[in-house]
Amino acid sequence: MKATQQLKDEHQGIKIVFRILEKICEKLKADRSISAEHFEGILEFLKVFVDRCHHWKEEDLLFPAMEQVGIPRQGPIGVMLAEHAMGRKFVKAISDAYSEYKAGKASASAGLIENAKGYISLMLAHIDKEDNVLYPMGDSRFSKETQEVLYEGFEKIEIERIGIGKHEAFHGMIDKLSKIYL
Ligand SMILES: [Fe+2]
Ligand SMILES: [Fe+2]
Repeated sequence: MKATQQLKDEHQGIKIVFRILEKICEKLKADRSISAEHFEGILEFLKVFVDRCHHWKEEDLLFPAMEQVGIPRQGPIGVMLAEHAMGRKFVKAISDAYSEYKAGKASASAGLIENAKGYISLMLAHIDKEDNVLYPMGDSRFSKETQEVLYEGFEKIEIERIGIGKHEAFHGMIDKLSKIYL
């Protein structure tokens, strides 16, 4: 399997979580209530899986490998990095708004919904660019060896950053929440 295929598969899982998050936001808007367990599970997924695992695979391994084969940092890679940084700010804002919501601040839910929507639209466009422009650019230039080295590196990041058990737990959570919300 190509290393980028692993990242594309992760994008599919991330997109399902976004659909669940949208449903939770709709519910929050309609009756101002939210399941703490479900929302906190999603927040952890965004912080641990999306940011610490998926974005790290790109930032630590994929993007440097792309630079090695002549794809300039001052171009599509730079745009992706800037979007990761924007994504982190959104996740922090969602997390902060959720803490306020939990503490009983009535106005917090509007901020939570707004930041969740901003984050989802940023990341959907980001994923689209990676799947359709950036990854194919890399795939057309990477040797078979580079793909293998990247793939092994991705596996290592996964074990070090989130751990095998945790990865399975996230899959379980996505399945469970999909049945409830989608
Ligand atoms: Fe990315
Ligand atoms: Fe990505």
